[in-house]
Amino acid sequence: MRRAAAEAAAGLLTPRPARVLSRRRETAETVTIALEPTGEPWLPGQFNMLYAFGAGEIPVSISGDPGRPDRLVHTVRAVGMVSAALCRLRRGGWVGVRGPFGTGWPVAEARGRDVLVVAGGVGLAPLRPVVHALLRGRADFGRVTLLYGSRTPADLLFRRELERWARRIDVLTTVDAAAPGWAGDVGVVTPLLRRAAFDPAGAVAMVCGPEVMMRFTLAELRRLGVPERATWISMERNMHCAVGLCGHCQLGPAFVCRDGPVFRADAVGWMLGIREV
Ligand SMILES: Cc1cc2nc3c(=O)[nH]c(=O)nc-3n(C[C@H](O)[C@H](O)[C@H](O)COP(=O)(O)OP(=O)(O)OC[C@H]3O[C@@H](n4cnc5c(N)ncnc54)[C@H](O)[C@@H]3O)c2cc1C
Ligand code: FES
Repeated sequence: MRRAAAEAAAGLLTPRPARVLSRRRETAETVTIALEPTGEPWLPGQFNMLYAFGAGEIPVSISGDPGRPDRLVHTVRAVGMVSAALCRLRRGGWVGVRGPFGTGWPVAEARGRDVLVVAGGVGLAPLRPVVHALLRGRADFGRVTLLYGSRTPADLLFRRELERWARRIDVLTTVDAAAPGWAGDVGVVTPLLRRAAFDPAGAVAMVCGPEVMMRFTLAELRRLGVPERATWISMERNMHCAVGLCGHCQLGPAFVCRDGPVFRADAVGWMLGIREV
């Protein structure tokens, strides 16, 4: 028994090699890679530790369709050494995978209710599995609205999918800075909430993006009458072990790797914007 537990723990700490099945460039800085599945079941919102050989290991959310167990998909924005190495991977290349880790989005809890999915920038990646799950079970959910903001039109992720999704759910997009040909909204994502159709008392909101965007979104949701106990956010912190041992990812009383990354807003929302935590 003890040996089985030790083996399971060691498994969580040892990367497993996985081959890159395909690679798609999303934007100038962002790439989506599909890996051979590790065989581990996962939930929308969970993340893996991806190890770029010779560079290092970072947490990356699973961005694929939960109904496609034949591929393990991640979307990575190149911001530093490891993420850039992952973005340079080609089909046939290898990466180390540990996981999945962490908590998931409340998809089951959203059944029968209106759903607001609010994303900023690469924050759409961890929410993409939720959109897939909502579309697969479309009749089980009420009105579904995706609100998505990015810096420029060229930074919008999953552009073709956004068009496809818009045939079955409401999709509202906005950019900080327009470009020639952009006919959509300009500005931050929060004002779009006023245009979404939902019952505030019964709706579920799932929010992921830069912390400042999440802070303003939570305030607007509160103002519109969505209770904090029905609002969920995904937090990011630097990580090392991903299994609650090292303390790198501490956020106040919680460890993001173990207790998050998806938290109910009433548990951690108050900490958004406090630099020390
Ligand atoms: C649970 C979780 C899920 C994530 N999912 C994704 C994802 O789906 N796609 C994706 O592209 N990225 C995701 N990230 C962020 C990603 O892990 C970081 O961008 C990565 O660790 C940067 O490592 P690096 O070596 O490339 O850059 P570094 O050299 O370590 O950092 C480059 C810059 O990014 C900043 N930075 C580093 N890590 C973070 C972080 N965790 N949050 C905010 N800023 C950071 C640094 O301060 C620095 O300015 C996730 C992070 C967490 C914690
Ligand atoms: S990354 Fe080690 S405790 Fe969370």
